[in-house]
Amino acid sequence: GLPERVTVYEVGPRDGLQNEAAVVPVEVKAEFVARLAAAGHRVIETTSFVHPRWVPQLADASELLDRVERVPGVRYPVLVPNERGLDRALEHGVEEIAIFASATETFANRNLNRTLESQFAMFEPVVARALGNGLRVRAYVSMCFGDPWEGPTPLAQVVSVGRGLLDLGCYELSLGDTIGVGTPGHVAALIGAFGGPERLAVHFHDTYGQALSNTLTALREGVTVVDASTGGIGGCPYAESATGNLATEDLVWMLHGLGVETGLDLPSLVETSTWLAERLGRPSPSRVVQALGTA
Ligand code: HMG
Ligand code: MG
Repeated sequence: GLPERVTVYEVGPRDGLQNEAAVVPVEVKAEFVARLAAAGHRVIETTSFVHPRWVPQLADASELLDRVERVPGVRYPVLVPNERGLDRALEHGVEEIAIFASATETFANRNLNRTLESQFAMFEPVVARALGNGLRVRAYVSMCFGDPWEGPTPLAQVVSVGRGLLDLGCYELSLGDTIGVGTPGHVAALIGAFGGPERLAVHFHDTYGQALSNTLTALREGVTVVDASTGGIGGCPYAESATGNLATEDLVWMLHGLGVETGLDLPSLVETSTWLAERLGRPSPSRVVQALGTA
């Protein structure tokens, strides 16, 4: 069976804009976030408090948060890797953060400058202090299916990192296919290896065109939270061959076709993607945006 309702966890302003070659002006980012809320999004990952030299595209995180007019009932989580990032987030009244771990040694090193083991020493005090301040904490685990350097990731290794993150007190674990190599059988096997869908979300990049099939598989396994980016933008600057996230429009087309509720207005999302594509200077990779958009 399928869930009656799916929560779309929108990552466009963060995962999408972190990977743009050009830095997007902060007022465009603020308008993007406002349009997403107006289209019905109830959770919008807005930016990252990472090192500004590591991700210059999101170096304006503080200024953006000051500009975003928070709509009641909408959550605006931000990515936070360490205590310095948490301090910055707390200064701006953030109520939810997401930490992001790696399932592989090489990516832990490249993305976080840590080992598989030592990434936990970085996250532990972040989660403890965030929970102590009444924040919600989400966790990502990246490279769940494979990474560009080590090949396929052993299921047990993903489960070990993922369980470790949940045990810190994170309310949810998002399984990241950072480079989009996963296929449906692998998705079902990974959810099975966790012992079921409880507290799991999925985060598929569409590099190999598998994101929608993988999502449908996860829904059939009982997952009800799906990460997606409006317009299908996204990627990780520290992962070779990472392309855009599953496009929110493609996801919504499928879910509404299946009679699954999302609370999202597809025409508004398409209009926003068309507007954003004009600002980014290139068309959206989303098939639904190409079919329904006016640009
Ligand atoms: P590091 O160099 O080991 O940091 O980087 P450090 O702790 O040694 O600190 C060095 C200096 O940086 C210090 O300054 C710190 O204050 C400063 P100094 O005392 O020398 O003057 N610093 C900071 N400044 C501002 N904000 C901060 C911060 N932290 C330290 N937060 C670090 C470690 C984690 C900071 C770095 O590796 C980093 O920023 N990495 C982030 C990379 C990133 O954002 N990648 C993309 C997001 S992950 C993703 O996209 C995957 C996902 O979508 C899921 C999927 O698709 O699988 C989530
Ligand atoms: Mg991602």
